[in-house]
Amino acid sequence: MNIVEAKGLSKTYRISDREIPVLADISLKVRLGEFLVIEGSSGSGKTTLLSLLSGLDKPTEGRIVVDGEDITDVAEDDLASMRNQLFGFVFQSFHLVPSLSALENVMFPAELRRDRQAKQKALDLLQRVGLSHRVENFPHQLSGGEMQRVAICRALINHPRIIFADEPTGNLDSQNGSAILELLTEFHREQGSTMILVTHNQEIAARADRIVLLEDGRINGVRDKDQRHVPR
Ligand SMILES: Nc1ncnc2c1ncn2[C@@H]1O[C@H](COP(=O)(O)OP(=O)(O)OP(=O)(O)O)[C@@H](O)[C@H]1O
Ligand SMILES: [Mg+2]
Repeated sequence: MNIVEAKGLSKTYRISDREIPVLADISLKVRLGEFLVIEGSSGSGKTTLLSLLSGLDKPTEGRIVVDGEDITDVAEDDLASMRNQLFGFVFQSFHLVPSLSALENVMFPAELRRDRQAKQKALDLLQRVGLSHRVENFPHQLSGGEMQRVAICRALINHPRIIFADEPTGNLDSQNGSAILELLTEFHREQGSTMILVTHNQEIAARADRIVLLEDGRINGVRDKDQRHVPR
């Protein structure tokens, strides 16, 4: 079963009267439970593609189907609540809310759903990532690796069907980065969610079910972990 299906996506940005084509003719099926890695050089369109697949941005052309529902024309308000329930996001620069403590950041998506167990779930997750002693800290009182662990807990608290992670280790040293990727892959396995991850880390890419190579806004091949070409 496909959890995400992109059909003929293109994205063109317009800056004053200049058109900037960024993605062209992207068709891709992501299977339920799959661990998909997106690779490509800087500017190849990886972040743009994640934004389209997760409904954060609209394509210029093409359709996006998530869990059997065409979300291409769904209004932003409905998409926002769908994202909160179905998707978890992890970004390179963490995107924590500066005025909320670690615990409050993690609880937030669950509180939006009026989950009465929000606090307990958040505490459990923070313990799991080794941050029980940092729950009261605000983001500026945390290290980069700690902030990213908080962000992962926040992304996972609602048990998302899909985890979108955009270079989640880009701002971390290699040791912290490996620990973060280890956590993500562990949670992905445990929760049976689908994970779409942008990374340059070859060790992790080698564990993916499939690797999509983006080049200049186009898919230039899809490989499996044994480097064989496979269907997109
Ligand atoms: N809002 C925007 N308006 C205009 N052009 C944009 C916009 N966002 C991205 N672009 C352009 O689209 C191209 C793809 O950007 P994108 O951020 O998707 O690349 P990326 O593969 O994620 O790169 P990186 O590895 O550096 O994060 C780039 O050339 C970028 O300059
Ligand atoms: Mg990017």
